[in-house]
Amino acid sequence: MAERLIEISDLSKTYTTKSGQVDALSHVNLNIDRGEFIAIVGPSGCGKTTLIRILAGLEQHTEGGALLGDKEIGPPRGDTGMVFQKATLLPWLNILDNVMLPLSLKKKITAQDRERAQSLLRMVGLDEFARKRPNELSGGMQQRAAICRALVHNPKVLLMDEPFGALDAMTRDLLNGNAMLFSA
Ligand SMILES: Nc1ncnc2c1ncn2[C@@H]1O[C@H](COP(=O)(O)OP(=O)(O)OP(=O)(O)O)[C@@H](O)[C@H]1O
Ligand SMILES: [Mg+2]
Repeated sequence: MAERLIEISDLSKTYTTKSGQVDALSHVNLNIDRGEFIAIVGPSGCGKTTLIRILAGLEQHTEGGALLGDKEIGPPRGDTGMVFQKATLLPWLNILDNVMLPLSLKKKITAQDRERAQSLLRMVGLDEFARKRPNELSGGMQQRAAICRALVHNPKVLLMDEPFGALDAMTRDLLNGNAMLFSA
């Protein structure tokens, strides 16, 4: 039997702004099993980022709830990986250290960790840029590094917010194929 990984029930989110209330999500229901790959498609402003940020624990919902594994969603946790709509790399760290950040926040980096980060960078064609700073890379290259950062700790759930938006069509196709291999 399939293992249920995410269970979103009647989830709503209303932002309160100076100019009034914005209903970003209204009564969303969605179940996702282990091994499933789900894409949320919709026009700009329909609430895709809001939903992902709530699942990642970066935003609070206003109604309903969601289970991730067997726990109610709450503060950010170690078993999820997130790729943001913008790369959000730390400018003072080189690319390799940025990729290893989810690990170095939790423990001492080992040679094996370094090798995993390097092989992820190789997967996205950035192995030669490991020692460069983010501002020396193009937007698409930074986004590729951010994808590696989301995968480095082998998360149970990978949340990606338009991760290939900054990439050209050919690189996007290549990464789609490689990412499948890596997550197999
Ligand atoms: N921090 C915020 N404060 C107030 N309103 C917000 C905030 N973030 C998002 N919204 C509003 O919530 C709605 C959904 O926004 P969201 O960013 O989730 O859309 P999206 O589907 O990701 O759009 P896009 O495809 O353009 O990235 C929009 O109407 C937006 O104005
Ligand atoms: Mg968005």
